[in-house]
Amino acid sequence: SGSSIDSSLLKIQRATALKPKPVFDNSLPFGKFFTDHMLEIEWDEKDGFSAPQIVPHHPLSIDAAAPCLHYGVQCFEGMKAYKDKSGVVRLFRPDKNMKRLNDSCQRLSMPMFDGNQFIECLKQFLKVDRDWIPDKDGFSLYIRPTVIATSSSLGVHPAHHALFYVIACPVGPYFKDGFAPVKVLAESKFKRAWPGGTGCNKVGGNYAPGLLPQKMAAQQGYSQVLWLFGEEDYVTEVGSMNFFVFWKRADGKRELITAPLDGTILPGVTRDSILELTREWREFEVSEKTFTMADLINAANEGRVIEIFGAGTAAIVSPINGISYMGKEYAIPCGKDGRAGELSTRLFHELCDIQYGRKQFRDWSVAI
Ligand code: COI
Repeated sequence: SGSSIDSSLLKIQRATALKPKPVFDNSLPFGKFFTDHMLEIEWDEKDGFSAPQIVPHHPLSIDAAAPCLHYGVQCFEGMKAYKDKSGVVRLFRPDKNMKRLNDSCQRLSMPMFDGNQFIECLKQFLKVDRDWIPDKDGFSLYIRPTVIATSSSLGVHPAHHALFYVIACPVGPYFKDGFAPVKVLAESKFKRAWPGGTGCNKVGGNYAPGLLPQKMAAQQGYSQVLWLFGEEDYVTEVGSMNFFVFWKRADGKRELITAPLDGTILPGVTRDSILELTREWREFEVSEKTFTMADLINAANEGRVIEIFGAGTAAIVSPINGISYMGKEYAIPCGKDGRAGELSTRLFHELCDIQYGRKQFRDWSVAI
């Protein structure tokens, strides 16, 4: 063990019996069927990081007092592995996930780590469970790096002991209806994040409080919550995704806009990729700027909204065709026959082409 994660110390204990794999089709539920193995690295404040281990996927044994169970001392990542048409396994911008996980660890007073060494261990894990990575377009292996504080103490203090682990599951399209547009409910009462909070970190504590508003939205027939902030009703995120509006501004210029990374917005890898891609196209303005529900409603009423979508690792791009706000529903333009609009469709395919290695863009796709 030592002060840094050391991938050269990695040990592999293979499962003696392998589990049957689910069928990779549209009936595959998100996040339910896990691969045969998992990656574990322990951290202790005196001894540092243990030798990384790949072991059979198993239930954890931690003290019932562990801070991850009481005070939400927990953070995680969402990333995917793809198999290209030559059978090569690829990650998408994994350095971004490592940076964000380190930022989350720092925010929760958990140990920071060497992201490159973590990725080396992750690559070994993917080699062991490589048969679980679907080789079908639209399917991938969802990877969940997680850090939990595991000390045996109810004291509210920084972790003395932590467990870094990675589990993974094959996934298909995130939403049941796939790449079909959905309606969302703008939430006026409950907030997802606030200045000085943890909205910009991927911590479990951001998600549990979203479940009640999500349930209430679903009861009214809306599939996601549109998160607002402040008296001005600034538009921030949608569900567990970043939120994009493609509109014609009042000055007639076309603009793709999303909320800026002011500390309340999750720095999504898909968000950043969409911004970089569209800036490279130079076809319209691309802005990270605050905008309010009033701006959005005005644009909708004046017919200036071209398209709206959410963006995240799980769904990639999720088109939106309606927004309910203060009891009124606003129709948002989409493609023909209830399909996704032009920009969402193009971005979805562009991102998939890069992720599945069909197209090269910078060093985003990392073959392992
Ligand atoms: C995403 O990738 O959009 C997510 O954050 C989803 C995850 C929390 C299941």
